[in-house]
Amino acid sequence: MADDQDSLIIRPSKKTPLVLRMLVLIFAMASGIYICSICVRQIGGETSRRSVSIRVVERPCEATGIEPWEKPYLHFPKPKTFRRDECACNPVRYFAILATQRSGSGWFETLLNSHINISSNGEIFSVKVRRSNISTIVETLDKVYNLDWLSSASKNECTAAVGFKWMLNQGLMQNHEEIVEYFNTKGVSAIFLFRRNLLRRMISILGNSYDQKARPLNGTHKSHVHSTHEAEILARYKPTINITFLIPHLQQVEDLVTKSLQYLNGTRHIILYYEDIKNNLTKLVDVQEFLNVPQRDLSSRQVKIHKGALSSQVENWEEVEKTLKGTRYESFLRDDYKV
Ligand SMILES: *[C@@H]1O[C@H](CO)[C@@H](O)[C@H](O)[C@H]1NC(C)=O
Ligand SMILES: *[C@@H]1O[C@H](CO)[C@@H](O)[C@H](O)[C@H]1NC(C)=O
Ligand SMILES: *[C@@H]1O[C@H](CO)[C@@H](O)[C@H](O)[C@H]1NC(C)=O
Ligand SMILES: *[C@@H]1O[C@H](CO)[C@@H](O)[C@H](O)[C@H]1NC(C)=O
Ligand SMILES: *[C@@H]1O[C@H](CO)[C@@H](O)[C@H](O)[C@H]1NC(C)=O
Ligand SMILES: *[C@@H]1O[C@H](CO)[C@@H](O)[C@H](O)[C@H]1NC(C)=O
Repeated sequence: MADDQDSLIIRPSKKTPLVLRMLVLIFAMASGIYICSICVRQIGGETSRRSVSIRVVERPCEATGIEPWEKPYLHFPKPKTFRRDECACNPVRYFAILATQRSGSGWFETLLNSHINISSNGEIFSVKVRRSNISTIVETLDKVYNLDWLSSASKNECTAAVGFKWMLNQGLMQNHEEIVEYFNTKGVSAIFLFRRNLLRRMISILGNSYDQKARPLNGTHKSHVHSTHEAEILARYKPTINITFLIPHLQQVEDLVTKSLQYLNGTRHIILYYEDIKNNLTKLVDVQEFLNVPQRDLSSRQVKIHKGALSSQVENWEEVEKTLKGTRYESFLRDDYKV
């Protein structure tokens, strides 16, 4: 049989000795075996790795009905600490709330966390080691965005938007270049939250640092309160504003805000003001649209500490008024929202 086929293919002359034909056959077989053995060795070495990657790409998740520009902002994280189960193929959006202290970001975050699909993990970079350098920052971000961050705000496998609250002075400005690159390559959206009235913010800071020292609420310090009774006690304290420091302070904060907007201008972002949300809770519709989560009514149990006229909240109001009159900060003296 073999001889017949050979003769058909290579048309050997009748003179070719049988020995020569056998030699060619043996050589062909030997090289075949050699090539096979190399293949087997290579496959053998990669078997374990390959089987893992096959399991991962088994059923790639596909987001449907999205605009092409949205694609980089959709993620299908595979947490190490739990399985996303039935929501494994629900896309997740990454966000970061970028804010200054006492700008209502705590309140804003409780609103977001009242959404069943949003997980905002708090001020994670208030812990210094996490912001020691860009490596520790990236390591922390990776963990949060892979849904492996454990906090009281961690949601279940059906989280559709995950993020945290980041104060501008917590390593963000110093490492802005690398952070912008991270945001852009990983598809993180930024939510800027500022306060329009920086004078009110200053009063809130002074009150908060007084409370940190005096602890009028039965010896505990509370940045945020959940009852009107507690809020009244905290608001009893009337700070005296250092007049020399007043305008330089307002300028400093303004500069910080402007600079942060410049630095992160190249990222996908939205800019919100505390006062605007307080005045119009419908603004939260915009936020949910921005995060592309299902629309829901959001609510918070937090109670505002300082209520009513500004003039009644500061010990040396006349002095403050005199200092700001005629400057571009004059509008801060007016009450700009109802409580
Ligand atoms: C970053 O900070 C961490 C923790 O402080 C430290 O262990 C690490 O060596 C630092 N890495 C670099 C590149 O500086
Ligand atoms: C939101 O969470 C609910 C309940 O866990 C889940 O059924 C739903 O699929 C989630 N929605 C999105 C968009 O992930
Ligand atoms: C302090 O504790 C007492 C007793 O638990 C309570 O009645 C009172 O309201 C508390 N005061 C404040 C300011 O929370
Ligand atoms: C007011 O602020 C200025 C500038 O920061 C500072 O030098 C001064 O000591 C402060 N005065 C008081 C009474 O705190
Ligand atoms: C951000 O970029 C846009 C478009 O390039 C520009 O019009 C805008 O002024 C920039 N904003 C800031 C705060 O730099
Ligand atoms: C409240 O906010 C929504 C969403 O941004 C806006 O469409 C609406 O005009 C605002 N209403 C008022 C009274 O400003």
